[in-house]
Amino acid sequence: MCGIIGILGNHEVSPQLVEALKRLEYRGYDSAGIASIDARGELDRRRAVGKLVNLSDRLVHEPLQGLIGIGHTRWATHGAATEVNAHPHLHGPVAVVHNGIIENFRELRAEVIAGGRAPESDTDTEVVALLTAQYMAAGMTPVEAARATIRRLHGAFALAFLFKDEPDLMIAARKGSPLAIGHGTGEMFLGSDAVALAPFTDRITYLEDGDLAVLTRAGVEIEDSEGRRANRDMAVIDVGSTAIDKAGHRHFMAKEIAEQPVVLGDALNHYLHGDRIVLPEGLDFSSVERLTLVGCGTAYYAAHVAKYWFESLAGLACDIDIASEFRYREPPMSPRSWALFVSQSGETADTLAALHYVRDKVEKVIGVVNVGTSAIARESDIALPTLAGIEVGVASSKAFTCQLAVLAVLAVKAAHDRGRISDAELAALVGELRAIPGLLNQVLGLSEDCRGLAAWLAEAQDVLYLGRGPLYPVALEGALKLKELSYIHAEGYASGELKHGPIALIDRNVPVVVLAPRDALFDKTVSNMHEVMARHGQVLLISDSEGIELAGEGTHATLTMPAAGGIFAPILYAVPMQYLAYYTAVAKGTDVDQPRNLAKSVTVE
Ligand code: F6R
Repeated sequence: MCGIIGILGNHEVSPQLVEALKRLEYRGYDSAGIASIDARGELDRRRAVGKLVNLSDRLVHEPLQGLIGIGHTRWATHGAATEVNAHPHLHGPVAVVHNGIIENFRELRAEVIAGGRAPESDTDTEVVALLTAQYMAAGMTPVEAARATIRRLHGAFALAFLFKDEPDLMIAARKGSPLAIGHGTGEMFLGSDAVALAPFTDRITYLEDGDLAVLTRAGVEIEDSEGRRANRDMAVIDVGSTAIDKAGHRHFMAKEIAEQPVVLGDALNHYLHGDRIVLPEGLDFSSVERLTLVGCGTAYYAAHVAKYWFESLAGLACDIDIASEFRYREPPMSPRSWALFVSQSGETADTLAALHYVRDKVEKVIGVVNVGTSAIARESDIALPTLAGIEVGVASSKAFTCQLAVLAVLAVKAAHDRGRISDAELAALVGELRAIPGLLNQVLGLSEDCRGLAAWLAEAQDVLYLGRGPLYPVALEGALKLKELSYIHAEGYASGELKHGPIALIDRNVPVVVLAPRDALFDKTVSNMHEVMARHGQVLLISDSEGIELAGEGTHATLTMPAAGGIFAPILYAVPMQYLAYYTAVAKGTDVDQPRNLAKSVTVE
């Protein structure tokens, strides 16, 4: 979750460190800090609680000199978001930044305390600096001390070390958490991802688990977990170094919601040629026995929608699970099954660990990922890009609908491969998919209506979202969006499940958002809606004009969707979920693009 950066440069490094941290802030924004070595060889640092802008402000009044430096943006795991807990951690001749969790930090901390060193912070990371300093005090060189420290660590980490009096040395190590080395000309870089390094270089080497890298301005030497010299490929990675802007929108999220017709069109165009589906070699579903779909949060809800599609269109048995449960419950996997991992960042620790779990147990591993350079993309047998473009808003919007689009394409392909649909039916479904971007454009027209409902929702303590079939996961997604953006408690339920408990929550103060496209389950959803209204629940009905005509009476409000989309309606219904949460957050004055306690890339479990 935290983001780390390291630069061995040729001019003052602190502006570059801040620039890179800006590109990593999506990984956490509880605090930020940088450390460097000045002309006298001394280590110094600046840290500030909260967003990166606080650190930049501080640097204006208290600049930091040096041509080499490390930086960090924090998502707190151990210890509150205070300056003392902010990275870099500095002890004796060592400064350290860390992304991950050191699971045995208590035991190591007791050891360094017994050795006479006093921790200052509540973090797990500080022990890395303390232990390395202790080894150096016992006579080890920086490389030996870092190596010895790393061998003692349990858990997940990407680490960068700086050492007093060593202005041409930086050590990096990774286990579990991602780390990329950037090659410059007479300069070297390291960062949590290639995006952070994009302003400086596009020549990237990804470290592998267990690697330790020794960087100087002349280059990098890498050793593997056994201490053997390792050769890791360098690739030219184009992630685009252009500044990311809001294109006139008030928030990134507003821009990203509005971009959906375009990016989803791009994603579909990538996979649809005429009335055919074109996927990479090896994606023939005809004899797949079972498909397991895994993800976290919004990505999991995309998998959940896709389950309905794979089952009903392709007759393919599907399991879905959230990655943090899947990875530990030891699910038996058939060797003729495929596993599919959905992830925007492609770096989510639990999803990656779930992928590792199935690696040798299934026939094929597929990644549906937005960040093409990510670990999940690299480690899948087949990676399918969702092509949503960079998503800056921490709460996912366009990445979700693009995930749905790619999964819909796969489900239609599976249906055809398995002989469940004819060529003509395939062409008809492809036609329906091609219509989605245009329909999304229409749905964006609901923006003002959603804004008009925000004051009502903003007053609620609790909000329920109801849906059936593939609209049930969209209800879950709607509730998640509202929770994370506006901090209002919200729950999504399968409409038919309401009477088994949650209906006890209903009273006249509870808004209930009902997702009811005119599909085969419409009447049943409407019956459930009436059960809510009979208990004075305040219903917002989302349906097409005919649905609203049939069932809108007595509701608090309605939103009119296009009478189209068919089986792919979930993609369209995702948009009012996003707008309702967005405008409610704006009405409440919360931090829309960087909601409290969240991070965009969850690289700890
Ligand atoms: C919610 C949200 C998260 C992510 C989840 C998985 O708006 O964005 O729930 O979907 O953390 O992240 P990725 O897709 O990067 O694996």
